[in-house]
Amino acid sequence: MKIVVIQGPNLNMLGIREQNIYGPMKLEDIHKQMKGFADQNKLEIEFFQSNLEGEIVDRIQECIGDADGIIINPAAYTHTSIAIRDAIAAVQLPTLEVHLSNIHQREEFRHKSLIAPVCAGQIVGMGPFGYHLAMVGMTQILSEVAA
Ligand code: DQA
Repeated sequence: MKIVVIQGPNLNMLGIREQNIYGPMKLEDIHKQMKGFADQNKLEIEFFQSNLEGEIVDRIQECIGDADGIIINPAAYTHTSIAIRDAIAAVQLPTLEVHLSNIHQREEFRHKSLIAPVCAGQIVGMGPFGYHLAMVGMTQILSEVAA
């Protein structure tokens, strides 16, 4: 079973950007922890980060026949991208949406996720630990698929 982790714009800046909101952890360290969990659970995992909407759409499309599940933090595109939502709907793979911050507690324009309706679940406000929770959740979803 393979999980593809997709990270949207500015998440490559974690550890530098707005540490009061996103904390000090770098993206590569979050990915190291996820890889550790994947190895322990005999899951394949691949990571992708892009600041470009079309590249994210392309990567989601490439998941057909390649991945069994997607974990995505679409970052700012969460609130704007019909294209990313449509790509997730098109590939028909279980998808979990993660946000480091609690988007519902922040500016009004972050309260709405265009992505959430096509996802199996959404994890917000748990910082980097949210990615671990998504791994646990995806492992459960994939075990149900395999059963
Ligand atoms: C974010 C929340 C988004 O509103 C924001 O644009 C981001 C990060 C989060 O992980 O909390 O870039 O997705």
